[in-house]
Amino acid sequence: MASKLWGGRFQKSTDALTDDFNASISFDARLYKQDIQGSMAHAEMLGRQGIITEAEADTIRDGLKSILDDIEAGKIEFSQEMEDIHMNIESILIERIGDTGKKLHTGRSRNDQVATDMRLFVKEACADIKALIADFANTLLDLAARNKTTVMPGYTHLQRAQPVTFAHHLMAYVEMLKRDTTRFENVSDMADSLPLGAGALATTTYPLDRYYTAQVLGFKGICLNSMDAVSDRDYAIDFLEAVSVLMMHLSRLSEEVVLWCSSEFGFITLDDAFSTGSSIMPQKKNPDIPELIRGKTGRTYGDLMAFLTTMKGLPLAYNKDMQEDKEPVFDAYDTAAICLKIITKMMATVTVNKDTMKQAAGGGFVDATDAADWLVGRGVPFRDAHAIVGKLVFYALEQGKTLRELTLEEYRQIDPVFDESVYDAIDLKNCVSRRDVIGGPAPAIVDRALAIDRSFFAKK
Ligand code: ARG
Repeated sequence: MASKLWGGRFQKSTDALTDDFNASISFDARLYKQDIQGSMAHAEMLGRQGIITEAEADTIRDGLKSILDDIEAGKIEFSQEMEDIHMNIESILIERIGDTGKKLHTGRSRNDQVATDMRLFVKEACADIKALIADFANTLLDLAARNKTTVMPGYTHLQRAQPVTFAHHLMAYVEMLKRDTTRFENVSDMADSLPLGAGALATTTYPLDRYYTAQVLGFKGICLNSMDAVSDRDYAIDFLEAVSVLMMHLSRLSEEVVLWCSSEFGFITLDDAFSTGSSIMPQKKNPDIPELIRGKTGRTYGDLMAFLTTMKGLPLAYNKDMQEDKEPVFDAYDTAAICLKIITKMMATVTVNKDTMKQAAGGGFVDATDAADWLVGRGVPFRDAHAIVGKLVFYALEQGKTLRELTLEEYRQIDPVFDESVYDAIDLKNCVSRRDVIGGPAPAIVDRALAIDRSFFAKK
């Protein structure tokens, strides 16, 4: 009742279960820094505009600073009765500085306050995730730089298709990470307008200077419509979407890592520090880390779907449903951050089994396209060349041989146009280095891509 900041019009206390159900302090305590930052900027602006005195603004800001220090020193316990981080901090402020503290909420509502806090959080989260993506991308680029001539089979339908290099394969993921980086930059832009000053939904009668508050808080602009300002959570949804796409990328690489470190592939060996054993099978070395990353991708999709669904039927403007933005955003952020950190360490320490990769590339007829291309070089139309090499492959399969193992005699039985130089055309190294179209696996081309990628992430 009276103890609640909004208790004036109530005759009865809230039920204990109502407090329990309504409170968000158990999870929004995490916004204390953003909340204090926002309140300090608001108080400064109120003082500057003469809505409160400069002295009062200073007292409020000193009080908020002492609360911030005490929270960080672990000296403050928040109360569930005070519902959320906003009212907890305001009530502690009033306890500390008395009546002046009661002036902080002038020209403000929790609705524009919480929207401001969340935007500040999302902007910081985007910057953090971007930095972690850059670390990961640089680790992949280091690994790629060491494997520019490591030939491996490239796959389609998980069937050996054409030879590539491990560098080229890894750098496909770097492309995804570049798009992820841009995506988080866009999300940050979406969050970069100040809602504060929108009040509960219809602004206020005080002469606020919203541009000043925006400048103090580092927002590029202000939300133009007060009703949209308090009811917009697009930036949170955009963040969840960007995390989901990022996690989908990490999950795809994780899936490949799981395959690659199986005995069936044997392309890489995970460091012991990033593997686990079995409680029953003494021989096991399991890839739990990439499996967990793959698994955790699901929960980030859940975060996105949960909050999208929360928002879909809400009338303007603020509704309490929107308090449900926090847990998905926090969870998605935490999940993406830990997954990026561990996948970076894991990939930095893998052993690449170059010979196994090469051996795999030697089987499965990944050189068949090159044999056909050789025929095209002799004037055979590609469709006919395709059919001729198809016959060759069928014959070789019957003989239990690779294309390289067939004798020239055998080639000529299929088509007399073949000569000795076909062996050079299907040499795996040549197959790769001749694919020197921009975007291809030839080491010279990969070198250029490496330089472009390095400079992309150096600027981030
Ligand atoms: N804890 C609330 C939230 O996160 C703060 C805003 C509450 N506003 C209100 N009018 N009840 O959404």
